[in-house]
Amino acid sequence: MSRIAYVNGRFVPKADAMVHIEDRGYQLADAVYEVWALFDGKLADPEGHFARLERSLAELSIDMPMSRAALTVVLKEAVRRNRIREGLVYLQISRGVARRDHAFPTEPVAPAVVVTVSRVDRAATEARAAKGVAVVTTPENRWGRCDIKTVGLLPNALAKQKAREAGAVEAWFVDELGLVTEGASSNAWIVDGDGVLRTRDTQANILRGVTRLTLLDVAREAGLKVEERPFTLEEALAAKEAFITGAGSLVLPVVAVDGKTIGGGSPGPVAMELRRLYIERAKATAV
Ligand code: PDD
Repeated sequence: MSRIAYVNGRFVPKADAMVHIEDRGYQLADAVYEVWALFDGKLADPEGHFARLERSLAELSIDMPMSRAALTVVLKEAVRRNRIREGLVYLQISRGVARRDHAFPTEPVAPAVVVTVSRVDRAATEARAAKGVAVVTTPENRWGRCDIKTVGLLPNALAKQKAREAGAVEAWFVDELGLVTEGASSNAWIVDGDGVLRTRDTQANILRGVTRLTLLDVAREAGLKVEERPFTLEEALAAKEAFITGAGSLVLPVVAVDGKTIGGGSPGPVAMELRRLYIERAKATAV
């Protein structure tokens, strides 16, 4: 349980951590966020997450509320105060508080900054990875700027709920061409019939996953053939292996899609090796 949150310059007990009812993040989803995996108290893939944060903010014309260095101090202090070594760090930055109006405030307002930290049971997540997880598919119905990591996640939340009700852990969005875009909170991958590792390219309307980017490098370094190329649901069902990536899932084998087993119905060797290599890399580069 996270006990201390950072809210606009102060560390406060979570029960007292409040944002204003006219925060534009609350009213209009006018806010961005980032999630870092935490290994041994250190932030994984720091550069990738900070770069994406800055890009998301720039796309919405919200100023960075403080420098990267200052933000790192805040994130690490939140981790320290919560005494969490293995977990997730959540950062949210909204445009700030202003009288409700869809257009931006005409007077400058300070962005609102919130940080929370939550614990992850690594033994439980390793056990989950060793078993593999099920995903369901759902029609792509999100807006056209999924490259911006905004808190406007209602379609993702609905998709995730659909997955949960089906006994699955993730939902894959499938676009009008029958191509898998990504998961509700992860990127989607397969090892196709030719042994090629495939994930959707970033020209598509997807989030540019930081884990995805690191894993592309890790996979190439491991000598795998990698292509940023879309795959259809049918190709996923015929794939040797499938998996998802994200700060929460890391590299998580997928063993069933819409109730149909993938490969042998158990985690494949490529996914498991990539999980090991990703965690090794993330630990080595965490700050
Ligand atoms: N989700 N795609 C979507 C839609 C996501 O929300 C996420 C991350 C990813 C993977 O990105 P990354 O590898 O940078 O974590 C892909 C976070 C973890 C979340 O919403 O909690």
